[in-house]
Amino acid sequence: MAYLEITQLDKHYDRFQALKQINLSVEKEEFIVFVGPSGCGKTTLLRTISGLETPTVGQITLDGRDITYVHPSKRNVAMVFQNYALFPHLSVFENIAFGLRLHGFTKEEIEKRVQRAAALLHLEPLLARKPKQLSGGQRQRVAIGRAIVKQPKLFLFDEPLSNLDAKLRVRMRVELLNLHYETRNTAVYVTHDQVEAMTMADRIVILNDGRVEQVGTPVELYERPTNKFVAGFIGSPQMNFLELTVEGRRENSLACVAEGLGKLVLPIQTEATIEGKKVTLGIRPEHVQLTATESSVRLPAVVNIVENLGSENLLHAEIADNQLLVAKIAGGAAPERNHRLTLFLPGEHLYLFDEQENVIPISPLVALGSPRPREKAETP
Ligand SMILES: Nc1ncnc2c1ncn2[C@@H]1O[C@H](COP(=O)(O)OP(=O)(O)OP(=O)(O)O)[C@@H](O)[C@H]1O
Ligand SMILES: [Mg+2]
Repeated sequence: MAYLEITQLDKHYDRFQALKQINLSVEKEEFIVFVGPSGCGKTTLLRTISGLETPTVGQITLDGRDITYVHPSKRNVAMVFQNYALFPHLSVFENIAFGLRLHGFTKEEIEKRVQRAAALLHLEPLLARKPKQLSGGQRQRVAIGRAIVKQPKLFLFDEPLSNLDAKLRVRMRVELLNLHYETRNTAVYVTHDQVEAMTMADRIVILNDGRVEQVGTPVELYERPTNKFVAGFIGSPQMNFLELTVEGRRENSLACVAEGLGKLVLPIQTEATIEGKKVTLGIRPEHVQLTATESSVRLPAVVNIVENLGSENLLHAEIADNQLLVAKIAGGAAPERNHRLTLFLPGEHLYLFDEQENVIPISPLVALGSPRPREKAETP
């Protein structure tokens, strides 16, 4: 049995079902991130683990103990919220010590634990201050300190960094990860920021409409999404999608048609029976090329908008009426608006989704094991 085990969990609020059949196993010392659009159930699931909500159906065990109906204060979990919820009239020291005093720890033990947390969080010079004399980032560290001193079996974070400005958020992200490695704690962290999820998580849980869409390492979710929702959610800018109808399978390719684009021959193979079916083609902006690769789909396009981000350019190119494709290309000089060019979609970076939005297994045309000739000159 895993360290934290959630089994067949449902949560209803009257007739509204906020969580649907949640199953999840978290190993000790893992850093798990819940991510998903607003209202998908992230906070509800976290609060259910902490005991602030009771599941309608299902079971939660932590370190071998069934905690489904155990009072929050008896679960040995600590939760850090988005709004730090500090006591304004208490000093930093007393804010951090508060829970320990409540539980009747000795003065010496409290002193020891608070000093250790303050050292970990670089709060030592601030212990005598009141919350209003602190910056947002410092307040958030106090809230984390309050969780650390409890030495919980499990840390629960609900968007702890979303009140901070972008620069501070990046710094706190690194500090939180350092803390995680130093204290080897187990943590479940909620965010709706997919960059935060990708950079912090050992494994990501993607939630959508109360369900788990996919669980995996950041790389797994990026490279092998099991459905269109995950493919579109992970990655920034998001994956491009094109609606196609499959006309027929050829020996080495898939012949398709798309409205406004006409015929498209995809250099991929699949075992699935998809002749005559509607499918969605997916390709990430970073995989769209401006020069030909060995086997790729060619799409004539007209440059619409170029977003210059310094290190890279985001090219929004019109491939048909009202149909844009985004390409992430190297920074520096970029093609200008209304410039005509050809976009190349390499076969090995294509995804295909069926009408139920599940991924269709495909393989690119390169024979396994044979080296791929890169950057071969295109013969016009
Ligand atoms: N006490 C409640 N009573 C009724 N519905 C609730 C209650 N709490 C949450 N919900 C509903 O459950 C769904 C999930 O809410 P939840 O707060 O878990 O979303 P979330 O993923 O944390 O969203 P956000 O990213 O906006 O914080 C929402 O549709 C919400 O309106
Ligand atoms: Mg929430």
